[in-house]
Order: sequence, then structure tokens, then C-alpha cells
Amino acid sequence: MAASRSLGIILKNSGYKLLQPVLANIDPERAHRTTLTLLNRISKSKSLLASVSKLYGNRVPELPVQLFGKQIRNPVGLAAGFDKDAVACPALAALGFGLIEIGTVTPNPQPGNPGVRIFRLNEEYSIINRLGFNSSGLKAVLHHLAHHRGMVENTLLGINIGKNTNTPNEYAHQDYALCLEGIYEYADYAVLNLSSPNSPGLRMLQHQTQFNQLLQSVMNKRDELADIHHGKALPIAVKISPDLDTEDIISIAEIALQYRVEALIATNTTIARPDSINHKHYNETGGLSGKLLTDQSTAVIRKLVQVTQGEIPIIGVGGVSSAADAWRKLLAGASVVQLYTAMVYHGPTIIKQIVSGLADIAKSYDSTNFATAIERARQQS
Ligand code: FNR
Repeated sequence: MAASRSLGIILKNSGYKLLQPVLANIDPERAHRTTLTLLNRISKSKSLLASVSKLYGNRVPELPVQLFGKQIRNPVGLAAGFDKDAVACPALAALGFGLIEIGTVTPNPQPGNPGVRIFRLNEEYSIINRLGFNSSGLKAVLHHLAHHRGMVENTLLGINIGKNTNTPNEYAHQDYALCLEGIYEYADYAVLNLSSPNSPGLRMLQHQTQFNQLLQSVMNKRDELADIHHGKALPIAVKISPDLDTEDIISIAEIALQYRVEALIATNTTIARPDSINHKHYNETGGLSGKLLTDQSTAVIRKLVQVTQGEIPIIGVGGVSSAADAWRKLLAGASVVQLYTAMVYHGPTIIKQIVSGLADIAKSYDSTNFATAIERARQQS
């Protein structure tokens, strides 16, 4: 109770401003754990959630868009990996995101890779991580969701699922099926993560034969589960890598169209390193996210839209930290955007900044309707 009261005072007086310099100067993974502990604490208290909504969420302007046949309040989402174990969904929703994606969740708990595994590249507003799917496992995540799901308000909840590291790819479909079954009742959409660079062999699941087999199995499972859940067909999205060649992108798009996947998420982190950077962490193994990923992920969105002719909604993610970044991904054909790294560098006010900025850009296309504004802008570009 006392802790809750002091947290309330911190929130009311200074919000994130007080915490940010502290978090920026400690080990990145520890900073993240601290943030999640705080958000978890907030998630358990109605009055703290109300304070967070007042300070952050309520200040984000409404900019409604459609996704999965639903209207969401704005097109800015939280990308997977921030809240892998679903410990903070109500607080994250109260920050004002249009959608939040939790996970990656694996069937069994697993620790991920050993040692230091998150590196900040401050000057480049980027991060390299090699966490390797650390997960509390499906059972624990479901326990958290059972407690928190009802307090997630005005925000679409995606749940991103993966396979355990020791599951060979030929049995991967069983891991995805198990996770899908578990999360089915809680999720607004499910995501098959086939693109983390830190889980050996995972990305092979994107290649033609394996992708085809996996999708066939997952979509059959979804249909089975829909029957059990009174006909609710949970939308399935597939999250892909930015490191695919054109041939792979084309085959993914074609197979996704064949199985009527409801969305593609482009992209995860990259193992590529643009040439010009001289940073002590630059050659660390792992996935690079943030500013240095921006153009690479937008190029993948553009290619996907070209091949699918816009028939599959795309969730654009990779280096979004401003309204201009978000707008470029929307112009390329994304329906909504997500971000992770920008939250680390800029804190939760970034949501309001991006949504307000998008509303302003849209107005310059002389429309009160955001979708129409984007359509006009796409035609003119
Ligand atoms: C991630 N990302 C990620 N993606 C995913 O599908 N499952 C996951 O568990 C994680 N974990 C994760 C951890 C950390 C520390 C980072 C920085 C990223 C990838 C993330 O969702 C996103 O696709 C990329 O980070 C690109 O977006 P940003 O960060 O440039 O906005």
C-alpha cells in the first residue's frame, strides 16, 4: 500500500522524466526489468492505472484506424519483446497504444542466452539484443493473462508465440499449436514469430517448404479452435525478418495469401550491420533494432505490398521514432506501426508525439478521415 502510494506520487509529479536518467545509466536488461516491475505494480492498482491514463493515454489524440475488422483508437502499437511474459498489459494499454503485443511466449519456460545480451547504441538510437527467447513459459503467461486481461482497455492485444530452442524445426508446428490453444481466449490476434535471429534455426521456418507446412498445420489448428470457441476465428499474423532476399519475400507473400493469413508483421531485428558505424558494441552478435533498421524494414513492407497487391494488412515495425518515420511506413502500405526501441530512448510520451504528428500530416492532405488521407498521399507519392 505504501509502495503504491509513493508510486502514485512519483507518477503524478514527474511521470517518466524522473526515472529516465536513472534507467539510461544502468545495465540495459536491468533497466528493462525495473521498468517492467514498475509497470506490473501499476497494472495491479486501479488508481495507479487511472493516473497513468491521465498522464499519458488520455493525452494521445484519437486517430481511429481499422485492423482485423475492428476499430482501434490510433495506429501506434507496442512491438513484441517488451513484455514477453504479459506482466504489465493493463499499464501498457493505459499509456495510450492502439495495440500492444506481448511475447514471444514459448511452450516451456527457458532462460534464453547466457551473459550480457542487450547493448545500447545510444548515438544511433539503436539496440543490439541476443536474448534468445527468454520466456516464463506458456503456463505462467496464461496465469498472468487470467489476472490482467480484463483490465486491458481500449487497446488491441496481440500475443506473439514461438517454439522452444530445443524443439527441432520438424516439430515446431506442435509448439505453435500448443501456444495457440493456450492463448486463444485471451488474444485479439496471434503472431507466429518466425524471425528472431537469436533462436538457432528459427528463421528457416520462413523458407518455402517449412513455411508451407507450418502454416497449413497452424491454420488447421485455428479452424479446430474456432469451432470450440463459438466460431471465433482468431486472426493469425506472421512476423518476418528484414534479412530475407526478394525470392523469400515473394514466396512468403504467396503462401500467406494462399492460407489467408490475416496480417504480416514486417519486421523483426536485423543481423545486418550498415557499414558506416563505428561503435564499441557494433559487432556484438544479435538483432539490431531502432534507427539503423528503419529503411531496411520499410523496404520489406514495400516489397510485400507489391507482391500481395495490398491484400494482406501489414503491421510495420522497425525504427519508428517519429511521426515522419511512421508516416513513411504507412505510405509504403502498412496499416499500423509498432515500436520498441523508441520507447527505450524516448519513453512513453513518444506515443502522443507520433499520433499527434500523424494527425497533423494527415490534415495537410485535406481530410478529416485518416484512411482517406493516407490513400490520397499514397496516390500522390
Ligand atoms: C525484440 N523484438 C522481439 N520480437 C519478437 O517478435 N519477439 C520477441 O521476443 C522480441 N524480443 C525483443 C527484445 C528486444 C530487447 C528488442 C529490442 C526487440 C523485436 C521487436 O519486436 C521489433 O520487431 C524490433 O525491435 C524492431 O522495432 P524497433 O525496436 O526498431 O521499434
